[in-house]
Formats: sequence, structure tokens, C-alpha cells
Amino acid sequence: MWYVAGEEAGARPLSSSAPAPVRMKITETLVAEHRIFLRVFDQIDRLLPRMRTVSEVRRMASLVEELLMDHGATETELAYPALDHMLQDKGRLERLNQEHQEIDAGLREVQAATTLGEARRRLETALLMSRNHFRFEERFVFPLFEELLQQGTLAELGADWLRRIEGSRRPG
Ligand SMILES: [Fe+2]
Ligand SMILES: [Fe+2]
Repeated sequence: MWYVAGEEAGARPLSSSAPAPVRMKITETLVAEHRIFLRVFDQIDRLLPRMRTVSEVRRMASLVEELLMDHGATETELAYPALDHMLQDKGRLERLNQEHQEIDAGLREVQAATTLGEARRRLETALLMSRNHFRFEERFVFPLFEELLQQGTLAELGADWLRRIEGSRRPG
């Protein structure tokens, strides 16, 4: 369901004659980001065997780290807290936060690799951890958002996500 931007969340469904809305639910924005990251990861998988120096692999790891930074922050600072007080079992969210830290650590370990093979393996491992993490969120966590939070709340969180993205946009 789409809502008119600027209206009270969920207050007025969009009529067919209104201008196109720009609102997405937080679950939709996070899944859309996952899709983009997965395409980037697939490209990196294809490029990795052709990389000839450790520094090339390190640069790829830095790029992935940067890409995931805002996404992970949106989840831990915005999305998960909204769900946290609705859940009796906090273990699921703790697992997610822990996985974010493990993925970050895995990517940073690429910077410490001294051989090409080691750097490649570490980056592949970090990408695999990220893929598994996305899958877990989409199968077991995002459905909980849909189940436990109001549609209007999900749309408000989506609007907060957009404000964060616009606020973090780098010049150029
Ligand atoms: Fe996550
Ligand atoms: Fe995610």
C-alpha cells in the first residue's frame, strides 16, 4: 500500500490520480539494498580470479565495507530498535548485531592478508557471511517487521531511511 508523502503515516491511501509517491516501507528499502549488494558481490566473484595483487583485493574489501556501513547502521540504529521492544526473544536481534560485527571484522582481515590467496579467501568468506546474513534477515527477520509493526510505522521508518541516505550523500 502506498501513502501520500507528507501525510500522517498510513492516514490516506493514494488515489490513482495523485502524483507518484516516493514512499517505501523500511523492509522494502532494506531488501532493495540487499539486491544491489548481491549484484556487486557477484561481480566481485567474477573479478577475484583475475586480480593479480593483494592491494587490488584489499581495495575491493574496502569498497564492500563502505557499501555495507550505511546499511548496517540503518538496521542497528533504526530498524532493529523498532522491532526490539515487540519481541520476547531478543536472541534473534543479538545474532544480527553480532553478525554485522563479524562481517566487518572479516572484511578488515582482508587488509591484513599478506598473500594474494589469503586475501582472496578472506574476501570470499566475508561475502559468503554477508549473503547468509541477508538471507537470514529476509527469511526470518523482515517478515517479523511486517507481522508486528503497523504499515504506517514501516512507511515512517522508510522515510527515515531516505532522510539518512540524503544526509550521508557525499558531494560529487
Ligand atoms: Fe543486517
Ligand atoms: Fe540487511
